[in-house]
Amino acid sequence: MSVILAIESSCDDTSVAICNNGKITANVIANQTIHQNYGGVIPELASRVHQQNIVPAVHQALLNAKVTKQDINAVAFTRGPGLLGSLLVGVSFAKSFALALNIPLISVNHMHAHILAHFIDDPKPNFPFLCLTVSGGHTQIVLVKDYFDMEIVGETLDDAAGEAFDKTAKILQLPYPGGPLIDKYAQLGDPQKFKFAVPQIPDLNFSFSGFKTSILYFIRKQEQEHPNFIAENLNDICASVQYSIVQILLNKLKKAAKLYGINEIAIAGGVSANSGLRNKLQDVAVTEGWKVYIPAFQYCTDNAGMIAIAGYQKFLKGDFVGQEVSPMARMEF
Ligand code: KG4
Ligand code: ZN
Repeated sequence: MSVILAIESSCDDTSVAICNNGKITANVIANQTIHQNYGGVIPELASRVHQQNIVPAVHQALLNAKVTKQDINAVAFTRGPGLLGSLLVGVSFAKSFALALNIPLISVNHMHAHILAHFIDDPKPNFPFLCLTVSGGHTQIVLVKDYFDMEIVGETLDDAAGEAFDKTAKILQLPYPGGPLIDKYAQLGDPQKFKFAVPQIPDLNFSFSGFKTSILYFIRKQEQEHPNFIAENLNDICASVQYSIVQILLNKLKKAAKLYGINEIAIAGGVSANSGLRNKLQDVAVTEGWKVYIPAFQYCTDNAGMIAIAGYQKFLKGDFVGQEVSPMARMEF
């Protein structure tokens, strides 16, 4: 029997979840809207807001899960990777909570947790499977052999897929984070209207930096020639950019599946909430004979539910850490 409290504070969302015997019974996410004014996450502001949000979020999670502090058997927390100041708030809280209640601490790698979110609900993938993890900071193809036996077989050499969405949104003068907005406008646009060159990168790696610059130059040129270009073509620009990003991601995923002879395919991370990616993956699954796993929306973007389920697996193994543990902005996979 186990009740695990999990804390996620790696970037700009403060999240607290409860895992009761392997089932997520609370997943509270306090979003920070303050960054919208700045076009990106301001680390100092993020840690200040985590400080304000963390105690109320813990109270809410306990209420939602109908448990008390005394019922908690262990505390899981995101150790990294992420913004150090943000991580510090969650790690310090987790350590104090565990110390006060004399219960074990469980350290979780945020990128592992995005993948392990697939073990929250059914159907669950079978090992080994391939996971395309696409977020604001990472773009990876991971060969998942077991819960904590994972190998990165391809990754971005520069920007992440989420950054490609967010930076395109910035060029289009949309607020941060732009990914969900591009997704929204793309649903009303023509994905074939504008063509963007797909980067030719060897192996299973990605690059989005040149792609982003090509969009910037394209929009600048069009705006010079037609001053209302963005406003008049917003839906088509979003649909075309999204189409290209999805194509880049799925082409590499197909290559990886062939190379490893694996047809159990998952997606994870914030960008896995993208409707274009989710729909296209379903189509590709039919032609390639894949069994695909797509997380529920609340477990795509940053959330403590995924930290709780990863924590649960570590709890079963008795994999705990001591009070000397500290956050890691960069953390080995
Ligand atoms: O996993 P996540 O919440 O945080 C990180 O660990 O980075 O991912 C955030 C990223 C942002 O770049 C955001 O724009 C993107 O996920 N994102 C989306 C969508 N929802 C979130 N990108 C495209 N379409 C979406 N629907
Ligand atoms: Zn994340």
